[in-house]
Amino acid sequence: MRTVKVGIIGLGPRTETLLASFMEIKGVEVVAVCDLQEDRIEKIKGIFKKHERAIPQSHTDYHELLKNDEVEAVFVPTSWNSHLQIAVECANAGKYVAIEVGGAASIDELWQLVHAYERTGCPIMMLENCCYARNEMMVLNMVRQGLFGELVYCEGGYEHNLRNRLAEIETTYEERAFHNLRRNGELYPTHELGPIAKILNINRGNRFVSLTATASKSRSIQEYRRERAEEGMAFDPNVTYNEGDVITTVIKCANGETITLTHSVCLPRPYSRNGRVQGTKGIWLEDVQGIYIEGMSREEILLDAAGNPYDVHYWDKQEDYYEEYDHPIWKEYSKQKMIGGHDGIDSLAIRAFLDAVRNRENTPIDVYDVAAWMAVTCLSEQSIATGSMPVAFPDFTNGKWIRREPAPKSRWALDQVHEDLFDLD
Ligand SMILES: NC(=O)c1ccc[n+]([C@@H]2O[C@H](COP(=O)([O-])OP(=O)(O)OC[C@H]3O[C@@H](n4cnc5c(N)ncnc54)[C@H](O)[C@@H]3O)[C@@H](O)[C@H]2O)c1
Repeated sequence: MRTVKVGIIGLGPRTETLLASFMEIKGVEVVAVCDLQEDRIEKIKGIFKKHERAIPQSHTDYHELLKNDEVEAVFVPTSWNSHLQIAVECANAGKYVAIEVGGAASIDELWQLVHAYERTGCPIMMLENCCYARNEMMVLNMVRQGLFGELVYCEGGYEHNLRNRLAEIETTYEERAFHNLRRNGELYPTHELGPIAKILNINRGNRFVSLTATASKSRSIQEYRRERAEEGMAFDPNVTYNEGDVITTVIKCANGETITLTHSVCLPRPYSRNGRVQGTKGIWLEDVQGIYIEGMSREEILLDAAGNPYDVHYWDKQEDYYEEYDHPIWKEYSKQKMIGGHDGIDSLAIRAFLDAVRNRENTPIDVYDVAAWMAVTCLSEQSIATGSMPVAFPDFTNGKWIRREPAPKSRWALDQVHEDLFDLD
């Protein structure tokens, strides 16, 4: 297996987590790193030292890293407001690019990304690790085998109580806090929307056509800051946040499906991506960890007090489907110890990208996926700002979605499931 030499631009906490996966993956060498901040460079170099790996070259200006001919591909885990411009420059320098998750600030920056790919032919992927999560992949596998019938409706969310981190605008560097302070929209759509978009064949025979978004009032972070200020923390209790506590976005697809997204990052609750995939024959619902398939799942006819019959339908546990319907990637990797961030899904997304680089083929999440998924953020802001008016999605494929060539046949493909590429005995 050929070793792929890569660079990393942006050395924050996310890169520290990604490096745990890099250290375990064969056939990759980090030869150059870059951050604006020297202390972050030193911290990252310390990780290479600890693992007794060659220390990469370091830069504070990423243009220097891009001049390095050894670097074939670049990871860009910088910030939501910088990674797209850097990705364009990576493609212009002839490098494969992997950006991190997040939403776009404008449609214009997404067109720049698409044009950079079309001009240079350098694939641009988002490392959307949740596309490689076990349940989402199993559901993709089951959908492709027809178990859910024709899909009608999907739901997803980023429901994660980050209130204490978002409140710390006086002390944090965390960019997300300032986006929540200033903006009002679906700020973080891709963890849940990525897998749904793949399941619904978005950009390959289907596309997002329009959305509406609605914001609830914004209360939770202000309340938290007021309470902490009363306890003596140095918070200005009068700061108000623009982001609604719950943002609800409804997307309409060309083939008639609807998708509801929920962004909720400051109300007390357990984490959920709130997944739901529903068709004419069945449903997966993440929050009950359940699946119901007509004709397979348990159904009973009971009698009410007046003796009239009524149907009761019972959830199957989603884990009962793993043995038969786990995606081949999970069948293969769960035999090994899954190492790295987020139960191994970071590692799967990185491997998917590296294999595409090694084989010089397009990435399983391509620039059109990235543009469509990230567009939700700025379009939802526009809808909320105009009283939940519908907003049209641009067609970043310029009509190619209607009859696009199939994605490369690969073990990592998220459009189809290629069982024949796995040896599962
Ligand atoms: N996929 C996931 O599960 C997951 C988890 C956590 C974070 N993330 C994403 O990863 C990204 C990074 O997160 P983080 O917490 O490390 O952010 P961070 O802001 O703490 O770190 C980003 C780093 O990029 C550097 N940077 C910014 N602009 C630069 C430039 N022009 N040149 C060089 N360096 C530059 C900053 O100095 C900083 O060190 C974010 O987009 C975040 O949403 C993804």
